[in-house]
Amino acid sequence: MEIMSILLCLMFLFFTVVTDAMHLPQGSYHPLSLRQNKRASKTKPELPFHFRTRYFPQNLDHFSFQPESYRIFHQKYLISSHFWRKGGPIFVYTGNEADIEWFASNTGFMLDIAPKFQALVVFIEHRFYGESKPQMLAKTMGYLNSQQALADYAILIRSLKQNLSSEASPVVVFGGSYGGMLAAWFRLKYPHIAIGALASSAPILQFDKMAPSSSFYDTVSQDFKDVSVNCFEVIKRSWGELEAFLTIKDGKQKLSKKFRTCKDLQSLASASLWLESAFVDTAMVNYPTAANFMAPLPAYPVEQMCKIIDGFPLGASSNLERAFAAASLYYNYSGSEICFDMENQTDPHGLAFWGWQACTEMVMPMSSSNQSMFPPFENDDEGEQELCMLAYGVKSRPHWITTEFGGQRIEMVLKRFGSNIIFSNGMQDPWSRGGVLKNISNSIIALVTKKGAHHTDLRAATKYDPEWLKEQRRQEVAIIEKWINEYYSDLRQEEQD
Ligand SMILES: *[C@@H]1O[C@H](CO)[C@@H](O)[C@H](O)[C@H]1NC(C)=O
Ligand SMILES: *[C@@H]1O[C@H](CO)[C@@H](O)[C@H](O)[C@H]1NC(C)=O
Ligand SMILES: *[C@@H]1O[C@H](CO)[C@@H](O)[C@H](O)[C@H]1NC(C)=O
Ligand SMILES: *[C@@H]1O[C@H](CO)[C@@H](O)[C@H](O)[C@H]1NC(C)=O
Ligand SMILES: *[C@@H]1O[C@H](CO)[C@@H](O)[C@H](O)[C@H]1NC(C)=O
Repeated sequence: MEIMSILLCLMFLFFTVVTDAMHLPQGSYHPLSLRQNKRASKTKPELPFHFRTRYFPQNLDHFSFQPESYRIFHQKYLISSHFWRKGGPIFVYTGNEADIEWFASNTGFMLDIAPKFQALVVFIEHRFYGESKPQMLAKTMGYLNSQQALADYAILIRSLKQNLSSEASPVVVFGGSYGGMLAAWFRLKYPHIAIGALASSAPILQFDKMAPSSSFYDTVSQDFKDVSVNCFEVIKRSWGELEAFLTIKDGKQKLSKKFRTCKDLQSLASASLWLESAFVDTAMVNYPTAANFMAPLPAYPVEQMCKIIDGFPLGASSNLERAFAAASLYYNYSGSEICFDMENQTDPHGLAFWGWQACTEMVMPMSSSNQSMFPPFENDDEGEQELCMLAYGVKSRPHWITTEFGGQRIEMVLKRFGSNIIFSNGMQDPWSRGGVLKNISNSIIALVTKKGAHHTDLRAATKYDPEWLKEQRRQEVAIIEKWINEYYSDLRQEEQD
């Protein structure tokens, strides 16, 4: 626990140092976002009754043979055999950077399709997150990386199949965001364990400048601009008005009052971060139906935010006031917030260790261009390296992910090497530009929707789902069905030979 709070302090330091000069938190962005709405934390994830929780003893280290490699931690997984026919497929979610219940309760798609396939459904928690934490965290952090996580999944799946006496069952892996990257990489690294992968909103090309570093903030900005140019302009102009509070007497107190903060702001940077997060996170979860992933929000929340901004009478309020009112939709949609706790954000799903991953292997360069509605900034590799050294005492390896998993000239490479991966993306999602957006071969398929957001397709179906979303899921099901049929047909063939 103490280690946790030290880490949280370091993360805070990380943000504070970066944002001190009233700039955006450069490069601190992360597939989900550390900044969670308090309301979301209060709502307990709803998992169907037929899920069981299990813990699997896992070695701390899979790649060397030191005494400490054999240290055990207990890896949590959730399992439902409710729809399973013995010998039938196994659907595995390769967990990402938070507690596994959170992902399980936002990945209803797997359960929706399980009856059709009579599939076993398993959600595995990623090491170092949720309850799957080794002891002596400070000394074992070096074992937190994506390769160890993939090996965990491989070992757990093999053990599970053995225990179920169902070794011939085909395994399909699923994941969204970082979990989607893991699903895709798992298929490439462990083709003998998974027959295919659905990688939703997986920005595997966000590394090593394969995608433009400004694409993330540019996409958020475009989402708002597509709804209303005025909305985009108001937000763009609000940052200067916010910065002006730096120069006026008692600026922090005045802004605290305006922004209804619970306590007087220590720095204007936290107000800036608060505003920015509201727009970024809302773009990520710009779902076509009401949802509660990062926060409870209505359908198409970007539109709703712009309605608020555009709804102000002309000239009656500052741009900053309008931007603040729009951001309040994200933090106070339920209407139950008495004040905003901008400098004490909660981390209900335990995302903090992502800071370590972002400082070691998950190095995704970020910048903000002049196309963006956010203040422009350049990508600053050196500055970030210094911060990582300060926060964790580690040196980043910005080229490691592309060395280990590839990415450069991916179309050419995977055309002749890989198979059975679906890369699904929604173009509203700021991470989509780092995803695979083109078909690579007839079994490495890109399913792209214009109106989709961050792994929209993995959410449970609702009766309000638009036709494009139903169609995307129909295609996914048809492709997965094809993989499974081919697998069983190959298996029969093998048995006959
Ligand atoms: C399989 O069974 C063994 C022996 O009971 C157990 O230790 C292990 O945790 C089980 N594997 C999984 C994935 O639950
Ligand atoms: C949250 O919304 C409610 C209902 O609209 C409002 O009364 C309250 O002042 C809002 N809270 C903040 C901090 O703005
Ligand atoms: C932050 O919030 C938590 C609970 O919401 C509270 O216990 C803690 O005292 C707060 N810390 C500060 C510095 O305000
Ligand atoms: C925006 O940035 C581009 C590329 O850096 C540059 O060519 C262009 O002149 C800039 N436009 C403005 C209005 O600053
Ligand atoms: C990839 O191919 C599928 C058909 O197999 C098609 O539906 C889809 O639109 C293609 N994706 C792209 C990005 O062109």
